[in-house]
Amino acid sequence: MNTKIVSIEPSEIDEEKIKQAARILKEGGLAAFPTETVYGLGADALNALAADKIYKAKGRPSDNPLIVHIGDISAVDAIARDISESARKLMEKFWPGPLTLILKKEDIVPLKTTGGLDTVAVRMPSHPVALALIRESGLYIAAPSANTSGKPSPTTGKHVADDLEGRIDMIIDAGAVGVGLESTIVDVTTSEPVILRPGYVTKEMLEQVIGEVREDKAFTDADSRPKAPGMKYRHYAPKAELVIVDGQIDLVIKEINRIAGEKINKGIKVGIIATQESLPFYKYGKVISVGSRKNEDTIAHNLYSVLREFDETDVELIYCESFSNKNLGQAISNRLTKAASNHVIDLEKSN
Ligand code: TXA
Ligand code: MG
Repeated sequence: MNTKIVSIEPSEIDEEKIKQAARILKEGGLAAFPTETVYGLGADALNALAADKIYKAKGRPSDNPLIVHIGDISAVDAIARDISESARKLMEKFWPGPLTLILKKEDIVPLKTTGGLDTVAVRMPSHPVALALIRESGLYIAAPSANTSGKPSPTTGKHVADDLEGRIDMIIDAGAVGVGLESTIVDVTTSEPVILRPGYVTKEMLEQVIGEVREDKAFTDADSRPKAPGMKYRHYAPKAELVIVDGQIDLVIKEINRIAGEKINKGIKVGIIATQESLPFYKYGKVISVGSRKNEDTIAHNLYSVLREFDETDVELIYCESFSNKNLGQAISNRLTKAASNHVIDLEKSN
């Protein structure tokens, strides 16, 4: 399949290109587009055959449901029912934006889109290109992250092309996205809302609007089965083996230098994910800064592109510093731990 790649400047949207993409979606095709979190791979959410194409293009397990993107808050009532007061408050506060709500689905949403579940994930993105596309198409757009299943989510149009060129109809390239990590997912189908995936909208931010919010215990208990089906799969992983070194930062730097030196002596090609602050202290291997600890937004923004950058090298083993579990740090740590398949060297425990 020939994938048409078009560039759009978010501040000056070319309506003709949006119309082309909208036409593809209305005809049951696949078009990747930017959102403020990561790029999405879009299809008509109410067309089971189109949704099925998403699973095939990504190599995604069919029990892993898709998020449905809407262009106006009021559109939620056509695809979801029994919407609670808390859910309404969260929509008012955080939409458009990086928050996905799990709601009871209406019959018109095919089970193909929801991975066989009777609930549906809904989000109204804030990226101007995403909103223009949804509104022009008049559709509800199912869109998982536009990566090959298992790989880090794409934060640039090039990442999408690297994974999916030749497998989808169109890619709208609007440059790098803002947030860089996928949306926060909150299940609001029960009386006590539960965070299923941490993201830019933190527990504290949610609690300011609706009071106490729980967290899926799978965040902290590796043996617990996650409530979001997608969270159980190996994910976000670079080609090289990734190991997180956790502990006090000066000890982490010392330990990474020690083991990196050892591995390099054995002929293994080592990479290190550092921060702006620690970059000068690493002595061996290919060292890349993921951002500044003084501004965790920069780390979220760069994380996936750094993981993908290592894929372009011959590095076989990557060591990475750990991040806090507070605020945005929680989402960063959650994605990193998955990318590392839970391989963490805990300096506090090993001491
Ligand atoms: O920021 C985002 O959310 C991006 C952009 C493109 O919007 N999308 C995204 O989609 O990250 P995806 O498919 O990569 O991740 C969707 C997650 C999966 O873990 C899936 O299992 C979960 O949402 N999910 C979807 N529907 C669900 C449902 N009904 N119940 C529980 N989890 C659900
Ligand atoms: Mg994904």
